Amino acid sequence: MFLRVIDRSLPVTSNFQHVEARFDVQSFDLFGDMPSIVDADPVFLIFDLKVNTDAKRRAVEGVIRRFPDTPAVAIIDVKSKLERVFWNANGVSALIHKTEKPDLIVKNIERVLEEHIRTTALSPGGIERAVKVCDTALAGMAESVAKRSFVKDQSVGAAALHVSTLIDLGREKEWLAQVQQHHSQTFQHSLLVASVISAFAKHLALPRSDQAFLTKAALLHDIGKMFVPLEVLDNPGKLSPENHELVKKHPSNGADFLKRHGCLPRATIETTRSHHELLDGSGYPDGLSGSQISPLVRVMTISDVYSALIERRAYKEAYSPRQALSIMWEMKGKLDPILLKEFSKSVCHAKMGRVASRPERVG
Ligand SMILES: [Fe+2]
Ligand SMILES: [Fe+2]
Repeated sequence: MFLRVIDRSLPVTSNFQHVEARFDVQSFDLFGDMPSIVDADPVFLIFDLKVNTDAKRRAVEGVIRRFPDTPAVAIIDVKSKLERVFWNANGVSALIHKTEKPDLIVKNIERVLEEHIRTTALSPGGIERAVKVCDTALAGMAESVAKRSFVKDQSVGAAALHVSTLIDLGREKEWLAQVQQHHSQTFQHSLLVASVISAFAKHLALPRSDQAFLTKAALLHDIGKMFVPLEVLDNPGKLSPENHELVKKHPSNGADFLKRHGCLPRATIETTRSHHELLDGSGYPDGLSGSQISPLVRVMTISDVYSALIERRAYKEAYSPRQALSIMWEMKGKLDPILLKEFSKSVCHAKMGRVASRPERVG
């Protein structure tokens, strides 16, 4: 959650709508009531006001004390030396000139956020913190589906950033061990696919924007399963033809939901809808084949199939990474062979090992 602290008696930064378009920001008056904060929400403070009285200085210090270890930036008139001294003394991570170009304001905030998540990931409690953030994001997705409300884009983005940072830092083993302890199968599967795809995207040296996109899209790819009753998803036996059809609707249901209830790029809708499509046209829901399936979808499909294979299901044991890869190589004509070759190298490098998971129907 981004909290912007303002002084309602003064004009605020005119460029701020660009920040609001990128992040979910709640503004509140320095002397007003603070919005209620969900403990697990990532908090980021943006001070957008002039501190020209002692009362304001004391109030700002109170807000900073209320959110210890929270990244904060101040949007100020940097010509004022007194202001600069005050904010630096209070430990804000960045001072941003209020007339700065909008995209630079956003970039500065993103940089501070990334640095903060990196520091958190390196700290002893970094894994638990990441679990909490991811838990909040997935609970938020479930709530959006239940209430047919908008997906909290920023919350999913923060979760994806935590995952990719832990993978970056080589903490995947500890991270996946912790994910495995989680009670929810959806949580385990989504986080495993996000971790696998993050390592794969890095291995492919994709642009950072594509890496971030894929990790986030992996968290969302099976959102359509939230429309399927748990007793069907968790059924260890053979599904009736009707229930099988119901499960097979999860990619289209998920994509339709995101289209109506999210401000997400078109490619996210595409990866959600098409992650069960196969190159030979035998996949679903649209039976796409060959060039109809984009490279990003192919990356998603490979990561999803692999994750499903190394998870334990009600109807099968977990395969080892080696077994999973050999099964995937046997799926002749269905997966992109060039990507699969790179994926095999990526798995060996990232040591995305055996994972025990609760039952689940499909990948
Ligand atoms: Fe799926
Ligand atoms: Fe999946």
